[in-house]
Formats: sequence, C-alpha cells, structure tokens
Amino acid sequence: MNSIDRPSADHSIEQFLMTPESRDDLTKELVGILQGKRVVFIGDDDHLSVQLSGQVDPVVLEIDQRVKDSLTLQLGDNAEVVEYDVRAKVPQDIEKADAFVINPPYSSKNQGLGIKVWLKRACEMTRPGGIGVMIIPWHFEEDWAVDNREAIKEFIEQNGMSIVSILDSQQFYDDVNHDNLFSNAIVLNRGFQEKIDLDIPNGDSIYR
Ligand SMILES: C[S@@+](CC[C@H](N)C(=O)[O-])C[C@H]1O[C@@H](n2cnc3c(N)ncnc32)[C@H](O)[C@@H]1O
Repeated sequence: MNSIDRPSADHSIEQFLMTPESRDDLTKELVGILQGKRVVFIGDDDHLSVQLSGQVDPVVLEIDQRVKDSLTLQLGDNAEVVEYDVRAKVPQDIEKADAFVINPPYSSKNQGLGIKVWLKRACEMTRPGGIGVMIIPWHFEEDWAVDNREAIKEFIEQNGMSIVSILDSQQFYDDVNHDNLFSNAIVLNRGFQEKIDLDIPNGDSIYR
C-alpha cells in the first residue's frame, strides 16, 4: 500500500485527497468487510479500489476523466471503470454489486443533499440485502455536520437501510476548507426497499 499515484484534487467537484495514512488504515478495516465481494464505487479519486485490488471485484463509476484513466491503468484487467455522472440514471448494463463504497460531497450547505444523491444511486446499483460503506463526517461537531448526521439518519431509516457499525479509523484530508475536518466510514445494511425516495437535482447543487 501507500505509494499509489492519484491525480491532483479538483475542488470544483469536491475532490479532497485522504492522507496516505488515513487511506491505509481505512483499507485494512475494509478488507475484512468487503473481501470476495463485487463492490461498486461511485467516484474513487482516493483509489481505494486499487488498494483493495485482488481482495474485491471492483466496478468504479467516475465523472473525472483523469481519475478514470488513472484507475484504468492501475487496475488493469481486474476491474470495470465506467464514465458516469451520479445525476444521471444508472447504466442498465451494470450488474448489481454485493456492496458499495461512497465518499460523497460532504454537503455542508445543502443539508446533506449530495450524500443522499450518492446513497440513492449506490442502492440502485447494489443488490437487496447488500452492504454499504459511506464515508462522511460523523463525529465532527460543527453545526452543519451534526445537522447532516441527523438528516442522513432519517433518510437511511425512511429508505429501509440501517446502520450496522462505525469503523474505528478516521480519515483526514489534504488541503481542506474546514478546520480539522475528518470523516468516519459508516457500514450500512442496504435493506430491501427497491425505490429510494429522492428527486435528483440538476446542476451543481449536489456540491454545495
Ligand atoms: C465527491 S469526491 C470526495 C468528496 C469527499 N468529501 C472528500 O473530501 O474526499 C469523491 C469522488 O466522486 C467523484 N465525483 C464528483 N462528482 C461526481 C459526479 N457528479 N458523478 C460521479 N462521480 C463524481 C470525484 O471525482 C471523486 O472521485
């Protein structure tokens, strides 16, 4: 682990890169949960799919061509890497995964909207009863993060998902625009509800 190249972060689409230490700590915990599974990633600028390569069967959907090219190069034949914008419908030819991993925009000014959009699309690509991993600020005590946590808990419950556990590791990021920002990985049961109740917005409101 540790020496994986990642393109520089494009903040306009909410890319912030995890420190290599955070990425390694998270990967160690994820292996135990995801080993042997087909895992869908919606956006993977941190290249977690590369870190988990050989342990999981990854399918990565990514909007940024630079990230897509980098993942394609580093994953080789071991993965599907597909160009995708989360605001668009899920491609019909994507076989459902056993699990998802998402690190959505933290949505500090839109009451968790970006997180909800990522969750909806991830559920649509994951089989009923599957596992989800959502990386968001959970123990970070800024007002917006506390409000988001409550909004996301409600969204999860209303849409048949449940929280299984919160992993021990914390993720820190380079060059963030909030002081001391960190995230945790929340493990979810995707549940069995087919339709996730959310209108997908147009434009850039998912990033605010
Ligand atoms: C949203 S960013 C990570 C944000 C996270 N808050 C952080 O600080 O690391 C995660 C990934 O989503 C991708 N992404 C951004 N907008 C997207 C979109 N509309 N559709 C699909 N992937 C997107 C990014 O390129 C990146 O690989």
